[in-house]
Amino acid sequence: MPDVYILGIESSCDETAAAVVRSGEKLVSNVVASQIALHQAYGGVVPELASREHLRAIVPVVRQALLEAKRTYQSVDAIAVTQGPGLAGALLVGISYAKALAYALDKPLIAVNHLEGHIHAVLLEERQKGNHEVRFPVLALVVSGGHTHLYLAAQKNEGWTYENIGHTRDDAAGEAFDKVAKLLGLGYPGGPVIDRLALRGDAGAVKFPPAQIKHRDRREPKAGQAKDQPKSEEDRPRFDFSYSGIKTAVLRYIEVHEMRSSIERRREAIAKIQKPKLEDYLANCDKKTLDLVASFQRAVVEDLVGKTLAAARAYDIAALFVTGGVAANNELRETFEQRAAQEGLPVNFPSRPLSTDNAAMIAAAAYPKFLAGDFAAMDFSAEASLTLR
Ligand code: KG4
Ligand code: ZN
Repeated sequence: MPDVYILGIESSCDETAAAVVRSGEKLVSNVVASQIALHQAYGGVVPELASREHLRAIVPVVRQALLEAKRTYQSVDAIAVTQGPGLAGALLVGISYAKALAYALDKPLIAVNHLEGHIHAVLLEERQKGNHEVRFPVLALVVSGGHTHLYLAAQKNEGWTYENIGHTRDDAAGEAFDKVAKLLGLGYPGGPVIDRLALRGDAGAVKFPPAQIKHRDRREPKAGQAKDQPKSEEDRPRFDFSYSGIKTAVLRYIEVHEMRSSIERRREAIAKIQKPKLEDYLANCDKKTLDLVASFQRAVVEDLVGKTLAAARAYDIAALFVTGGVAANNELRETFEQRAAQEGLPVNFPSRPLSTDNAAMIAAAAYPKFLAGDFAAMDFSAEASLTLR
């Protein structure tokens, strides 16, 4: 099989990204234009601004990815683009440009689910290290600003199939990091700053009650059902998450401990610094804040690791993938590594640049579709709530 060069394009949220990946296993170039600075002032992604910024960035970002890959437009074999889930207006920028390129260059177009992309970031990372063997069944935790999903991933011939066995009932884990950072006047996005500040606080200082899943999910196992009785997909055990409770608990803690005025002072001080460093945050954080941040992170990490490993046991998993923006978190990685090792379960993460949104993961996920001839029609459109199966 000759080498296949796929140009990937990703614009689902606040990163305009393009990458070239060879045959699903070699990252040739990976360009990410982040809009963080643009959205920072608003404490979160503003969809209209995101679309406008993607429009500005898409042409130079793709050009740069090809330049770095030393490839011409004509020399790529296919164009892959994120179809969803994500912000509709943002997705449309990538899709429209990918369609125009595919049409003008007469190349096949491949539509990729963003969540499948995050899973294939792990596979790309492993293949880059020369590891081509995947042990099945695979359990993948996709944990980002928009998603907290558990999937069983299987390979059938060239194609991949996914079964969702858990998702968040409310906020995604990354969203909780972002909202708590906003509540504490730590800016946007919250994950990276909380990750670093948590090391300076006492993670045992504030106790958060475990997340309560209020409503019984219709897919939870029925009472009295025999454990080894074959179950339809509808009846298989589920491992759902919930992070809005912990965010509310942080808010309550702030109120009870009268932290509002010091938070306001911090917000103003940090807003005046163009690129705040760790020392700038530390200079503006008292012990109570650092303890709260560390305790919050510990609670989220314990919940993610505990539920994921419970799912791994229930489904007798052979390999665990942890991916998405929150997979960049140091405590999450360390805790997963330790606990999974205790259970003899191999756990794989993408490198940090491939954990957060990027287009290499889109190009990598497109490769099996290329081999299977699974191409998109020119009239496909963005799907903001696209599910993965
Ligand atoms: O995958 P991603 O780049 O975009 C989405 O698909 O959502 O994930 C972004 C999310 C944000 O919520 C951000 O705060 C979080 O990932 N994040 C982190 C870290 N780096 C990014 N959360 C915890 N620790 C980190 N080091
Ligand atoms: Zn993502």
